[in-house]
Amino acid sequence: MGLVSAKEMLIKARKEAYAVGHFNINNMEWVKAVLIAAEESNSPVILGVSEGAAKYMMGYKTVVNMVEGIIEYLNITVPVALHLDHGSFEGAKACIEAGFSSVMFDGSHYGIEENIQKTKEIVKFAKERGISVEAEVGSIGGEEDGILGGGEIADPKECKMIADLGIDFLAAGIGNIHGKYPENWQGLRLDVLKQIQDITGNMPLVLHGGTGIPNDMVREAISLGVSKINVNTECQLVFADATRKYIEAGKDLEGKGFDPRKLLAPGTQAIVNIVKEKIDLFGSKDKA
Ligand code: 13P
Repeated sequence: MGLVSAKEMLIKARKEAYAVGHFNINNMEWVKAVLIAAEESNSPVILGVSEGAAKYMMGYKTVVNMVEGIIEYLNITVPVALHLDHGSFEGAKACIEAGFSSVMFDGSHYGIEENIQKTKEIVKFAKERGISVEAEVGSIGGEEDGILGGGEIADPKECKMIADLGIDFLAAGIGNIHGKYPENWQGLRLDVLKQIQDITGNMPLVLHGGTGIPNDMVREAISLGVSKINVNTECQLVFADATRKYIEAGKDLEGKGFDPRKLLAPGTQAIVNIVKEKIDLFGSKDKA
C-alpha cells in the first residue's frame, strides 16, 4: 500500500478509543524498524519527520523516495502516513509538494490571529491535494530540533477556533514536554484535555512528548480523546543504549563486527521492540 493520509486512521482511532503512534524517523534504520514493528503488530502507523531530520536525510524528496521504497521492498500492508512534524508555513507547503501524505503546521508561536490565518491557508492547500493537517495551540515544552517551546497550557477557546478551520487533528499543550521529563514534573493537565475535547467535539487530539509519560496517564489521555501520540526521544535512547552495549562488549572488534550492518543491528532491533511496546500500550495492535 502507498502512503495514506492520517485522517481516516485517526477518525477510526478516536471512535474506537485507541491512539496511533507517531514515531519520528532519522535514517534508513529508523524507517525500517518502525515499519517492521507496525507490520508485525498489524497496526496503522505515522512516520514523523521534523524539518531538521529532513535536512539530515537530504531533503523532503529523498525522505519520500526512501519511505516509499522501503514500504514496497518490505511489502508493508498496514496504513502508513508520512507526516511533517512541527512544520513551518513554507515547510508544510514544500512537504505537500514533495509527496508527504500529512503535515503539521505549528503556528503556536504566533499570536492566535496569525495562527488562524496561516493554518487556514495550509488547510486549503492541503485539502485540495488530499493531505491531512495537524495544527497546534499552546506550545509543547522543551527543545526539539532547535524548536524551543515554553510549555504553555492551551486555551480551550482558542483550540475550538483552530479546530473549526477544517484541520484533521489538533495538538494542544497540556504540560507535555519534548525529551525527558524533569523530576519535579507535575504531570499532564488532564482536566484541560477534557475541556478541550468537550469543546472540540470529536476532534482527534494529539499528545506530543510521548517519551516518559507514565503508562496509566497515557491510557487516561487516550480515554479523554487523544488519538495520536508522538514518540521520538525514547527510540533514540534505546538505539544509543543498544549500540553502546555492542561496542562496550568489544563486538565491533570481533571478526567483521565493525560492518555497519552488524554495528547498527542491535540498535535497530531495540527500536523495533520499543515501537511494538508502544503500539500495545496505545491499543492500535490489530487495528490496521
Ligand atoms: P519525545 O521526544 O518527548 O518523545 O516527543 C516527541 C514529539 O512530540 C515529536 O513531535
